[in-house]
Formats: sequence, structure tokens, C-alpha cells
Amino acid sequence: MLNKTVKLANGYEIPSIGFGTWQTPDGITAVSAVKEALKDGYIHIDCAAIYGNEKSVGKALKESDADRSKLFITSKLWNAERGYDKTIAAFEKTLSDLQLEYLDLYLIHWPANKKQFPNCRELNADTWRAFECLYKQGRIKAIGVSNFKKHHLEALIEDCEIKPMIDQIEFHPGFMQEETVDFCRKNDIVVEAWGPLGTGKMLQNETLKEVAGKYGVSVAQLCVRWCLQNDKIPLPKSVTPERIKQNIDVFGFEITDDDMAAINAMEYFGGSGFDPDEADF
Ligand code: A2P
Repeated sequence: MLNKTVKLANGYEIPSIGFGTWQTPDGITAVSAVKEALKDGYIHIDCAAIYGNEKSVGKALKESDADRSKLFITSKLWNAERGYDKTIAAFEKTLSDLQLEYLDLYLIHWPANKKQFPNCRELNADTWRAFECLYKQGRIKAIGVSNFKKHHLEALIEDCEIKPMIDQIEFHPGFMQEETVDFCRKNDIVVEAWGPLGTGKMLQNETLKEVAGKYGVSVAQLCVRWCLQNDKIPLPKSVTPERIKQNIDVFGFEITDDDMAAINAMEYFGGSGFDPDEADF
């Protein structure tokens, strides 16, 4: 049986599956989806300012009367808010939208890259100093980054005092980002998997369908379980009650070593197509 939590470098524990909210429409859809997730046993919600639905997530958390100390809430700093002062202000806005006193995890959403910023290294370091400050004040329990590749992490680690504890990257069959993952393993950085269903693109794959069939599960469940067995924290997103329930019901089967190896060996067959070094947003 897999562990239900994973320990971060600072000892703080993160639940091993999170509920994704990217592309979840703001308003009643987001409120209902988060309430459904809480009802089904998710205690870890993955948010971001740019998703445009944090107020709705906050409303769902408030109305569900969940015990805050049992929840794990993540948010991310959007790209337009980089730099020390803007980061502090953006953090306050997110906290207020979510109606929370603290965040469990705050991430730099994307690295500033060379393509857009000649001073990208300094900019990332300056943003990170604000993260360190908020962390030291206890307003964030753990700090990390998202979409950082090995070279972005190397630079930040050289420049910082407190190392990132998490890197949240795109991760699904056919797209395992080995170089980044290997660097994270060696540096005690836990990897979270965004788009574990390839934002839906995994679901029609014949190989995955066949393997899922052997276990009597859906391809979505197979992908979530596959992430867990690869020591990644999957963040499946859905607004559909039946799917939300299904995506956390993954502790009743185990993928064999042979099937893990077969899925790990799959070639790229679709994903977001985003490259952090090429991003112009
Ligand atoms: P929906 O939200 O309409 O239910 P990812 O987590 O990789 O970003 O994938 C999210 C996409 O996969 C969404 O389009 C979501 O649709 C769909 N999805 C999520 N869970 C399932 C599931 N169990 N079965 C089929 N589709 C799913």
C-alpha cells in the first residue's frame, strides 16, 4: 500500500494526491467541484491565481466547514507578479481570495526565462527571497517552484538560502521529464505531476486502455496510480462528480513492475506542448 502522505525536505507532509483546478470555470462550477472533492476525501487542493477561480475555491472551503488543519492548500504566483514587492502583494491577494490565514504551499508558477528577461536569474532569485521571507514568517508551510527545468533549479539553488521543496511539472505517460526528475531526486525536491491525464489526451490511448482493462480500472485511474508508483504527486482535475470520485479511488490495485516499465517506456504522444524556456506569457 502506498503512503497517503509524502514528507518534504522540511518535514512537512503533503497528501499524495491533490485535486487540480486548472481550467475549472469560476463560479458555481468551481465551488461545486471543490465541494465534491472534499466530500470524496481529497484534502489537498491545487490552486493558482491565474486560474481565475480562487475566490470560488475559497467559498467552497468556507462552506464545506472542513477542518483547516487537515487541509493542504497550494497556490502559485503568476508571472506578471515577479519580484520581491509584487510577490508579497500577490500572495496577500491570493490568501484573501481563498479566505485563508496561511498557505501550505506556494509555488513560483513559471521560471522567468532568458527569452523574455535578460536578467531572468536575478528576477527568479528576487521573487524567491519574498517566498523565503513569507516562509520564515510561518505564512507558508512549504515553498517551491513549478515548471522549473534542471538549469532553472541549479541557478536558483545557487542563489538562495532555502532550497525549493517541490517542483510541480507536467508529467504523464510519454512525458516523464527525466533530467529534471533526476535532479529533483538528488536534491530532495518532491515532484508533483500536473496534467497527469495529459489534460485528457491520455484517455484514448490504446496501450493505456489495454493495461487499464487488465486491472478493471479507467485509464484516468491507471494514470493517477502510475504517477504514485513513480513517486510523483498527481493533481488530476475534473469538474465531473463521478470522475472526481474515481480519480482518488486508486488504492485498491497495484500496477505490476512489468506494466510500470511498459508505460514508462512509452514515446511522447501528446501533452500541453509548453516549454518553460520558450514561454512568452
Ligand atoms: P472534466 O473536468 O470535464 O471532468 P488533467 O488532470 O490531466 O489536466 O486532465 C483533465 C481533463 O481530463 C479534463 O478534461 C477532465 O474532464 C478529464 N478527466 C478527468 N478525470 C477523468 C476521468 N476519470 N475520466 C475521463 N476524463 C477525465
